[in-house]
Order: sequence, then C-alpha cells, then structure tokens
Amino acid sequence: MIENGYEERYVSTQQTSADSDIEVSLRPRVMSEYIGQEKVKENLEIYIQAAKNRGESLDHVLLYGPPGLGKTTLAGIVANEMNVNLRVTSGPAIEKQGDLAALLTNLNEGDVLFIDEIHRLNRSVEEILYPAMEDNALDIIIGKGPSARSIRLDLPKFTLVGATTRAGQLSAPLRDRFGVILRLELYTPEELAQIVKRSAGILGIEIDKYGALEIASRSRGTPRIANRLLKRARDFAQVMAEGVITEDSANLALDRMEIDHLGLDSIDRILLETMIKNYNGGPVGLDTIAAAIGEEAVTIEDVYEPYLMQIGFLSRTPRGRMVTALAYEHLGLSPSEKKNSSNNQQTLF
Ligand SMILES: Nc1ncnc2c1ncn2[C@@H]1O[C@H](COP(=O)(O)OP(=O)(O)O)[C@@H](O)[C@H]1O
Ligand SMILES: [Mg+2]
Repeated sequence: MIENGYEERYVSTQQTSADSDIEVSLRPRVMSEYIGQEKVKENLEIYIQAAKNRGESLDHVLLYGPPGLGKTTLAGIVANEMNVNLRVTSGPAIEKQGDLAALLTNLNEGDVLFIDEIHRLNRSVEEILYPAMEDNALDIIIGKGPSARSIRLDLPKFTLVGATTRAGQLSAPLRDRFGVILRLELYTPEELAQIVKRSAGILGIEIDKYGALEIASRSRGTPRIANRLLKRARDFAQVMAEGVITEDSANLALDRMEIDHLGLDSIDRILLETMIKNYNGGPVGLDTIAAAIGEEAVTIEDVYEPYLMQIGFLSRTPRGRMVTALAYEHLGLSPSEKKNSSNNQQTLF
C-alpha cells in the first residue's frame, strides 16, 4: 500500500473514502465533545456567546492548520452552536463568480458558509467575496462596454468560515476580512487517547487505556489518523487477540502496519534517509527533496513536515531543510556519519 504514495498511507492525513463513512459518525457535533484545542475553543465560545447575546451573526472565522486536525468539524460545531444552517463548499469547487453569487443569495439570515481550501479560490471569485463579507452586498455588473453598470444587491447576514492548510497563501485583502483567525495545533498523545476512547465507544470497540495511548502516540498528532489506526487495530485485535485492544495488540497491529513508535512510516524514513545519505542531512531545498523521493513539494510541506518538525526531526532554515541530531538517533545513524561522508567528499575533490 505504501508504494502507491501518500494518499494510501495508513498515516496519511488526507481523507480517504474509507474514512468518510465513519468520519460522519465520529465527528463531534457540539463544542463539549470537541477534545483539545483549548485556546481555540475558549475564544470561539466567547465569540459565539457574545454574538448570540447581541442577536447578531458571528464574525467571519478563518481556521488554519495541517489536514485532519478538525477544521471541518469545528465549522459544523459553530453552525450548530449558533443554531443556523451550514453550507459547505470548497475553493476549487467555485469556478466562476456566478457560482459564488448563487451560493450567497441562497443563504438564510445568520447561516454559516464553510469554504474549505479557501486559499484555492480564484481571484475573480475572491472579488465577489470582499463586499459580501464586509457589507453583506453583492455587486453585479449588468451589460457590456460603455453601457455596463453595476448594481448592488443586499445579502442576508452570514458567517463565512474559511479553512486552509496554508494561511500564508491567502491574499492579504481576504485575510484582513476575517474578524477571527484561529490556528489549530497538533494534538498531544493524551488528547488523542481521549479521542480514540471516544471513537471506540461510538464504534463499540473494546480498548483499554494503554491500547488507546499506544495508538494515540503513533498518530502524528492528528485525530483523523488516530481514528484510522483505531479501526485497523480493531481488525488485528479481533483476529489475533480476543477482540480487545490492549497495549500488546495495538503494538502488534502498528508494527504490522510498519508504523514505528513515533508514528513514522516508511515514507517518513525514506524522506529523512534520503536527506541524510544524499544531502548530508541538509540544508536542502524543498523541491530537491520532492524530486529525490518522487513526491509533490506541497504534499511534503503540508503532510510530512508539520509532524517531523513538531517532534524535532526536521528544521526549516533560510537555506533549506535540515535533519536534526534527534532524527539521526531515531534512525540508528550517527551524525558523525555526516561528518565522515562530507570528509570523504572533500578528499574526492
Ligand atoms: N477535537 C476533536 N475531537 C474529537 N474528534 C476530532 C477532533 N478533531 C477532529 N476529530 C476527528 O477527526 C476527523 C477529521 O477532522 P476534520 O474536521 O475532517 O479535519 P480537517 O477538516 O481539519 O481536515 C473528524 O471526522 C473527527 O472524527
Ligand atoms: Mg476538512
């Protein structure tokens, strides 16, 4: 499965078709079920309460952070807590100005419009969004040439919730129109263990606290991965360990999936080893790494790097990416090999 690329990895953060059926049942619907992200939750709860007290719609919210951390989930919770409808779309799905105009004019007062991957909206569509976000107005041009004129339509008050994995790619005028900007962080193993236990409860899977912690600590800080590993661990537990996920049966399952105790799989190891063996551990540019391991640069940046940086295995420097001493240690290589190999190279020249 791993040869097929990141989309089919057990530890891929991308949503796969196998996830979507259970993700619906596992997705928290109210704030109190949403585990972790305490700062984000606290702030949002205050803004929601204040907006409700004033009888107004919530300010526009931008959520950003790596995939699988709960952005879509949070958008649903916001709509739920505000007692309004949620309309879901995504940046690449809105091709023309007219598509967005149709979405906006069909909203009800107070509704939440969720635009996933909002950094991928095209510029002409974005221009429709500015007056909509600022003045609840839609500017439409009627006619062509000298007789063209613009008319302004009123829109219902609505809340735009945008989600993006890359806040840096959002245009400044769009970013400035969000009143609330919240960054989701990778989860701690303890938080993920709570999520795993909650999911196991919903799915009727027996798991003990050590089994949950084992899955949690190998899930790269990401609830989507934790839920996926839980399902696979259940298969192993049922066939090989009397149905209960314990530390031992979880370990067995994760080892079989070639996910090590830090959650790294073979692709992570290939990435780090390639950087070490071919580029002396860096610094090496993102595009060079991408070409060397046959992955897209954006995938490396969005999917692999956040976790490798979080656990201190990779650092970004102005001159490129560098593998840290911790990563050498984890891979059983000594950083002195780095010195040796560069010495060897020097003697070659
Ligand atoms: N804070 C959380 N508490 C419990 N489960 C969560 C939480 N965040 C995410 N999840 C689970 O992870 C899955 C992926 O979350 P999602 O909102 O789709 O992530 P994103 O939109 O950021 O890629 C959800 O289906 C949900 O089951
Ligand atoms: Mg999402």
